[in-house]
Amino acid sequence: MKTPKIQPKTKGTSSPDRLLLAHLSDLHMMGQEEFHIRLLLNQRILGYLSWRLKRGRHHQARVLDALLEDLERIHPHHIAITGDLTHLGTQGECVETSTWMERVGSPHDVTVVPGNHDTYVRELWERTLIHWAPFMTDNGQHGPSAFPFLRIRGPVALIGLSSARPTPPFFATGRLGSPQLERLAKFLIETGRQGLMRVILIHHPPVPGSITWRKRLVDGQEFCHVIQRHGAELVLHGHAHTPLFREIDAHGKRIPVIGVPSASCMPSIQGETAQYHLFKIRKKAGGCEVLLVIRGYDPSMNRFLDIEKKAMVIPFS
Ligand SMILES: [Fe+2]
Ligand SMILES: [Fe+2]
Repeated sequence: MKTPKIQPKTKGTSSPDRLLLAHLSDLHMMGQEEFHIRLLLNQRILGYLSWRLKRGRHHQARVLDALLEDLERIHPHHIAITGDLTHLGTQGECVETSTWMERVGSPHDVTVVPGNHDTYVRELWERTLIHWAPFMTDNGQHGPSAFPFLRIRGPVALIGLSSARPTPPFFATGRLGSPQLERLAKFLIETGRQGLMRVILIHHPPVPGSITWRKRLVDGQEFCHVIQRHGAELVLHGHAHTPLFREIDAHGKRIPVIGVPSASCMPSIQGETAQYHLFKIRKKAGGCEVLLVIRGYDPSMNRFLDIEKKAMVIPFS
């Protein structure tokens, strides 16, 4: 994994009513460590083979370098990364991706939630995801039971969920579970009362039917019920490696659920290429104005460019 020496890409929040938020996902950074047979004697052998046969051609370091350069040009106030930073979720990959994130920005300015590839097999927190802990907490509490976590940046309440679970071979499902959904409800109530724009970060697409059955969020329906009951302003996810735009209907208010493709993917025959999203958020009376700028990788120029813009007005619920 190449980690060029570039300065942090984020700048501090400019005002309490504005935030420039970048959303990246599914980097699938394969570690430099030697893959001993002991590490691969489990489901990882499937991920390793898929990398050797397919993904390694699609997720390339040159795209990640172009991504870092683009973030340095744009200087978002905050960067959210919704999982699958690693490919096999090994200790070595978690350490290397933690170093990469520190180059992206300080833990204060970068928020991360894990994806299914980051928990590919059952591993101790103390060996793997502990290396990302500073990016997943504001109060010092971390660990598998510390999700969801809450971070307030400018006008935005970022609520980070973990849908990452080890799965049987050929499955890539996710699950939140009742304790997380109960804490999510509490955070939505508290931050809604504070008049913050509630942005939920999750790896799996939560709206049922968004993705194939073997890759779905098992308790997506329960998640949607919590959102319908307590409201939210925006849900951001990854996992599908393709753009997804859905909505949750909460008593007439339509809450955007936006999935970003992989940020490290080379152009494929199917037309997929690396993308990330920029959200220019401005809080107004009763809601937020949001301009979504989709940045896509152009291989001929080896850089990211604007490919589409969407303006939204999101009322508070
Ligand atoms: Fe992924
Ligand atoms: Fe995933």
